[in-house]
Amino acid sequence: MSLQNHRAVIVGGTSGIGLATAKLLVSHGAQVIVASRSQEKVDAAVKEIGTAQGYVLDFQDERQMRLFFEKIGEFDHLVVTAAGGATSQGPFGALAIDSARSEFDSKFWGQYATVKAALPFIRKSGSITLTSGAYAARPAKGASTMVAINSAIEGLVRAMAIDLAPIRVNAVSPGVVDTPVFSGMDNESRTAVFRQIAQSLLLQHVAKPEELAEAYVYLAQNTYTTGSVLQVEGGAILSGI
Ligand SMILES: NC(=O)c1ccc[n+]([C@@H]2O[C@H](COP(=O)([O-])OP(=O)(O)OC[C@H]3O[C@@H](n4cnc5c(N)ncnc54)[C@H](OP(=O)(O)O)[C@@H]3O)[C@@H](O)[C@H]2O)c1
Repeated sequence: MSLQNHRAVIVGGTSGIGLATAKLLVSHGAQVIVASRSQEKVDAAVKEIGTAQGYVLDFQDERQMRLFFEKIGEFDHLVVTAAGGATSQGPFGALAIDSARSEFDSKFWGQYATVKAALPFIRKSGSITLTSGAYAARPAKGASTMVAINSAIEGLVRAMAIDLAPIRVNAVSPGVVDTPVFSGMDNESRTAVFRQIAQSLLLQHVAKPEELAEAYVYLAQNTYTTGSVLQVEGGAILSGI
Protein backbone atom coordinates (compact mmCIF):
# COMPACT_ATOMS: atom_id res chain seq x y z
CA MET A 1 0.00 0.00 0.00
CA SER A 2 1.29 3.48 -0.83
CA LEU A 3 1.15 5.89 2.09
CA GLN A 4 0.94 8.88 -0.26
CA ASN A 5 -1.28 11.51 1.41
CA HIS A 6 -2.28 9.13 4.23
CA ARG A 7 -2.62 10.94 7.55
CA ALA A 8 -0.57 9.42 10.37
CA VAL A 9 -0.62 10.42 14.04
CA ILE A 10 2.39 9.47 16.17
CA VAL A 11 1.88 9.95 19.89
CA GLY A 12 5.44 10.03 21.23
CA GLY A 13 6.71 11.07 17.80
CA THR A 14 9.03 13.77 19.13
CA SER A 15 11.91 11.53 20.21
CA GLY A 16 13.68 8.22 19.59
CA ILE A 17 11.70 5.51 17.82
CA GLY A 18 8.62 7.70 17.28
CA LEU A 19 10.61 10.52 15.69
CA ALA A 20 12.42 8.09 13.36
CA THR A 21 9.04 6.62 12.41
CA ALA A 22 7.61 10.07 11.71
CA LYS A 23 10.52 10.86 9.36
CA LEU A 24 10.22 7.55 7.53
CA LEU A 25 6.44 7.96 7.13
CA VAL A 26 7.02 11.41 5.61
CA SER A 27 9.54 9.93 3.18
CA HIS A 28 6.77 7.51 2.09
CA GLY A 29 4.47 10.46 1.32
CA ALA A 30 2.39 10.47 4.52
CA GLN A 31 1.13 13.62 6.25
CA VAL A 32 2.40 13.33 9.78
CA ILE A 33 1.19 14.70 13.11
CA VAL A 34 3.46 14.23 16.13
CA ALA A 35 2.50 14.79 19.76
CA SER A 36 4.06 14.64 23.22
CA ARG A 37 4.15 16.58 26.52
CA SER A 38 7.03 18.97 26.00
CA GLN A 39 6.62 22.05 23.79
CA GLU A 40 10.39 22.10 23.32
CA LYS A 41 10.49 18.53 21.98
CA VAL A 42 7.44 19.13 19.78
CA ASP A 43 9.01 22.27 18.25
CA ALA A 44 12.37 20.52 17.68
CA ALA A 45 10.70 17.48 16.10
CA VAL A 46 8.51 19.56 13.76
CA LYS A 47 11.63 21.42 12.62
CA GLU A 48 13.60 18.21 12.13
CA ILE A 49 10.82 16.40 10.24
CA GLY A 50 10.18 19.42 8.02
CA THR A 51 6.53 18.99 7.09
CA ALA A 52 4.87 17.66 10.25
CA GLN A 53 2.26 19.27 12.49
CA GLY A 54 2.96 19.12 16.23
CA TYR A 55 0.77 19.11 19.34
CA VAL A 56 1.51 19.24 23.05
CA LEU A 57 -0.44 16.68 25.10
CA ASP A 58 -0.19 14.05 27.82
CA PHE A 59 -1.48 10.69 26.61
CA GLN A 60 -2.48 9.78 30.17
CA ASP A 61 -5.05 12.59 30.16
CA GLU A 62 -8.27 11.26 28.58
CA ARG A 63 -9.81 14.71 28.14
CA GLN A 64 -6.74 16.10 26.38
CA MET A 65 -6.68 13.06 24.10
CA ARG A 66 -10.36 13.44 23.20
CA LEU A 67 -9.94 17.14 22.39
CA PHE A 68 -6.78 16.41 20.38
CA PHE A 69 -8.44 13.83 18.12
CA GLU A 70 -11.54 15.99 17.70
CA LYS A 71 -9.23 18.74 16.44
CA ILE A 72 -7.31 16.37 14.13
CA GLY A 73 -10.40 14.77 12.53
CA GLU A 74 -10.29 11.68 10.28
CA PHE A 75 -6.94 9.98 9.73
CA ASP A 76 -5.44 6.67 8.59
CA HIS A 77 -2.70 5.43 10.91
CA LEU A 78 -2.16 5.69 14.64
CA VAL A 79 1.28 4.90 16.05
CA VAL A 80 1.93 5.11 19.80
CA THR A 81 5.52 5.12 21.04
CA ALA A 82 5.01 7.34 24.09
CA ALA A 83 6.02 5.99 27.49
CA GLY A 84 7.75 7.18 30.61
CA GLY A 85 11.12 5.53 31.34
CA ALA A 86 11.31 2.20 33.19
CA THR A 87 11.39 3.31 36.84
CA SER A 88 10.11 0.22 38.61
CA GLN A 89 13.07 -2.15 38.28
CA GLY A 90 14.34 -4.66 40.82
CA PRO A 91 13.45 -7.99 42.40
CA PHE A 92 9.67 -8.49 42.46
CA GLY A 93 9.41 -8.72 46.25
CA ALA A 94 11.25 -5.41 46.74
CA LEU A 95 9.10 -3.33 44.37
CA ALA A 96 6.58 -0.81 45.67
CA ILE A 97 3.16 -1.45 44.13
CA ASP A 98 2.65 2.30 43.58
CA SER A 99 5.74 2.56 41.43
CA ALA A 100 4.68 -0.42 39.29
CA ARG A 101 1.19 1.11 39.02
CA SER A 102 2.52 4.46 37.83
CA GLU A 103 4.50 2.72 35.09
CA PHE A 104 1.31 0.91 34.01
CA ASP A 105 -0.49 4.28 34.09
CA SER A 106 1.99 5.59 31.55
CA LYS A 107 2.86 2.85 29.07
CA PHE A 108 -0.23 0.62 29.30
CA TRP A 109 -3.10 2.95 30.20
CA GLY A 110 -1.63 5.76 28.09
CA GLN A 111 -1.72 3.57 24.98
CA TYR A 112 -5.18 2.26 25.93
CA ALA A 113 -6.58 5.79 26.41
CA THR A 114 -4.99 6.97 23.16
CA VAL A 115 -6.65 4.23 21.10
CA LYS A 116 -10.01 4.81 22.82
CA ALA A 117 -9.94 8.54 22.04
CA ALA A 118 -8.66 8.04 18.49
CA LEU A 119 -11.06 5.32 17.44
CA PRO A 120 -13.97 7.44 16.14
CA PHE A 121 -11.52 9.16 13.77
CA ILE A 122 -9.50 6.23 12.34
CA ARG A 123 -10.55 5.21 8.83
CA LYS A 124 -11.71 1.59 8.44
CA SER A 125 -8.85 0.96 5.99
CA GLY A 126 -6.38 2.27 8.55
CA SER A 127 -4.13 0.84 11.23
CA ILE A 128 -3.15 1.10 14.87
CA THR A 129 0.38 0.18 15.95
CA LEU A 130 1.27 0.10 19.64
CA THR A 131 4.63 -0.50 21.29
CA SER A 132 5.51 -3.33 23.67
CA GLY A 133 9.05 -4.62 24.29
CA ALA A 134 11.10 -7.81 24.07
CA TYR A 135 10.73 -8.51 27.80
CA ALA A 136 7.19 -9.72 27.05
CA ALA A 137 8.63 -12.71 25.18
CA ARG A 138 11.71 -13.22 27.32
CA PRO A 139 11.43 -11.85 30.88
CA ALA A 140 14.66 -10.48 32.33
CA LYS A 141 15.53 -10.73 36.03
CA GLY A 142 14.35 -7.69 37.95
CA ALA A 143 12.08 -6.42 35.15
CA SER A 144 8.72 -7.85 36.25
CA THR A 145 6.83 -4.56 35.82
CA MET A 146 7.95 -4.04 32.22
CA VAL A 147 7.38 -7.74 31.49
CA ALA A 148 3.79 -7.42 32.75
CA ILE A 149 3.12 -4.14 30.91
CA ASN A 150 4.51 -5.35 27.59
CA SER A 151 2.61 -8.65 27.87
CA ALA A 152 -0.60 -6.75 28.64
CA ILE A 153 -0.10 -4.55 25.58
CA GLU A 154 0.41 -7.57 23.34
CA GLY A 155 -2.75 -9.21 24.73
CA LEU A 156 -4.69 -6.00 24.22
CA VAL A 157 -3.47 -5.79 20.62
CA ARG A 158 -4.76 -9.30 19.84
CA ALA A 159 -8.13 -8.51 21.47
CA MET A 160 -8.47 -5.17 19.69
CA ALA A 161 -7.61 -6.79 16.34
CA ILE A 162 -10.78 -8.85 16.80
CA ASP A 163 -13.01 -6.07 18.18
CA LEU A 164 -11.89 -3.33 15.80
CA ALA A 165 -11.55 -5.22 12.48
CA PRO A 166 -11.27 -4.25 9.66
CA ILE A 167 -8.97 -1.66 11.26
CA ARG A 168 -5.63 -3.48 11.63
CA VAL A 169 -4.12 -3.54 15.12
CA ASN A 170 -0.52 -4.63 15.75
CA ALA A 171 2.44 -4.00 18.03
CA VAL A 172 6.14 -3.52 17.50
CA SER A 173 8.29 -5.11 20.20
CA PRO A 174 11.71 -3.44 20.35
CA GLY A 175 14.84 -4.86 21.94
CA VAL A 176 17.45 -2.37 23.14
CA VAL A 177 17.40 0.77 20.98
CA ASP A 178 19.81 3.70 21.18
CA THR A 179 17.39 6.55 21.95
CA PRO A 180 17.23 9.51 24.36
CA VAL A 181 15.62 7.17 26.89
CA PHE A 182 19.23 6.40 27.85
CA SER A 183 20.22 10.10 28.11
CA GLY A 184 20.44 9.81 31.90
CA MET A 185 23.65 7.78 31.45
CA ASP A 186 26.94 9.49 30.65
CA ASN A 187 28.42 8.71 27.22
CA GLU A 188 31.14 6.46 28.55
CA SER A 189 28.82 4.23 30.61
CA ARG A 190 26.27 4.07 27.80
CA THR A 191 28.90 3.01 25.27
CA ALA A 192 30.19 0.33 27.67
CA VAL A 193 26.68 -1.01 28.38
CA PHE A 194 25.73 -1.01 24.69
CA ARG A 195 28.97 -2.82 23.80
CA GLN A 196 28.22 -5.51 26.35
CA ILE A 197 24.64 -5.91 25.14
CA ALA A 198 25.78 -6.01 21.49
CA GLN A 199 28.20 -8.86 22.23
CA SER A 200 25.38 -11.03 23.52
CA LEU A 201 22.99 -10.38 20.64
CA LEU A 202 22.78 -12.56 17.52
CA LEU A 203 23.03 -9.43 15.38
CA GLN A 204 25.85 -7.93 17.48
CA HIS A 205 24.57 -4.36 17.73
CA VAL A 206 22.13 -2.23 19.67
CA ALA A 207 19.37 -1.01 17.33
CA LYS A 208 19.23 2.42 15.77
CA PRO A 209 15.73 4.01 15.95
CA GLU A 210 15.60 3.87 12.13
CA GLU A 211 15.68 0.05 12.26
CA LEU A 212 12.52 0.15 14.39
CA ALA A 213 10.86 2.79 12.21
CA GLU A 214 10.84 0.33 9.29
CA ALA A 215 8.65 -2.03 11.33
CA TYR A 216 6.03 0.65 12.09
CA VAL A 217 5.92 1.70 8.43
CA TYR A 218 5.53 -1.93 7.36
CA LEU A 219 2.58 -2.40 9.73
CA ALA A 220 0.92 0.78 8.43
CA GLN A 221 1.39 -0.37 4.84
CA ASN A 222 0.69 -4.10 4.88
CA THR A 223 -3.03 -4.74 4.39
CA TYR A 224 -2.99 -8.39 5.55
CA THR A 225 -1.38 -8.19 9.00
CA THR A 226 -3.41 -7.79 12.17
CA GLY A 227 -3.15 -9.02 15.76
CA SER A 228 0.60 -9.44 15.29
CA VAL A 229 3.62 -8.53 17.36
CA LEU A 230 6.60 -7.68 15.19
CA GLN A 231 9.79 -8.46 17.15
CA VAL A 232 12.66 -6.14 16.20
CA GLU A 233 15.22 -7.15 18.80
CA GLY A 234 18.41 -8.27 17.09
CA GLY A 235 17.86 -11.88 18.18
CA ALA A 236 17.65 -10.96 21.89
CA ILE A 237 14.97 -13.55 22.57
CA LEU A 238 16.97 -16.41 21.02
CA SER A 239 20.20 -15.15 22.64
CA GLY A 240 18.51 -15.30 26.04
CA ILE A 241 19.38 -11.75 27.16
N1 LIG B 1 14.74 2.39 23.67
C1 LIG B 1 14.66 1.11 24.04
O1 LIG B 1 15.68 0.42 24.29
C2 LIG B 1 13.31 0.44 24.14
C3 LIG B 1 13.26 -0.96 24.40
C4 LIG B 1 12.03 -1.59 24.50
C5 LIG B 1 10.85 -0.88 24.34
N2 LIG B 1 10.94 0.47 24.09
C6 LIG B 1 9.67 1.20 23.96
O2 LIG B 1 9.68 1.98 22.77
C7 LIG B 1 8.87 3.15 22.98
C8 LIG B 1 9.64 4.39 22.58
O3 LIG B 1 10.82 4.48 23.35
P1 LIG B 1 12.03 5.44 22.98
O4 LIG B 1 13.26 4.73 23.39
O5 LIG B 1 11.88 5.96 21.59
O6 LIG B 1 11.79 6.60 24.07
P2 LIG B 1 12.04 8.20 24.02
O7 LIG B 1 13.11 8.55 23.06
O8 LIG B 1 12.18 8.58 25.44
O9 LIG B 1 10.65 8.74 23.47
C9 LIG B 1 9.49 8.68 24.24
C10 LIG B 1 8.50 9.69 23.70
O10 LIG B 1 7.30 9.60 24.45
C11 LIG B 1 6.88 10.92 24.83
N3 LIG B 1 6.12 10.77 26.06
C12 LIG B 1 6.52 10.24 27.24
N4 LIG B 1 5.52 10.29 28.14
C13 LIG B 1 4.47 10.87 27.50
C14 LIG B 1 3.15 11.22 27.91
N5 LIG B 1 2.71 11.00 29.17
N6 LIG B 1 2.32 11.78 27.00
C15 LIG B 1 2.74 12.04 25.73
N7 LIG B 1 3.98 11.74 25.29
C16 LIG B 1 4.83 11.16 26.18
C17 LIG B 1 8.20 11.70 24.99
O11 LIG B 1 8.07 13.11 24.81
P3 LIG B 1 7.73 14.12 26.03
O12 LIG B 1 8.79 13.95 27.06
O13 LIG B 1 7.71 15.46 25.36
O14 LIG B 1 6.38 13.73 26.54
C18 LIG B 1 8.96 11.14 23.79
O15 LIG B 1 8.56 11.79 22.59
C19 LIG B 1 8.43 3.11 24.46
O16 LIG B 1 7.17 2.47 24.54
C20 LIG B 1 9.47 2.19 25.10
O17 LIG B 1 9.01 1.55 26.26
C21 LIG B 1 12.12 1.14 23.98
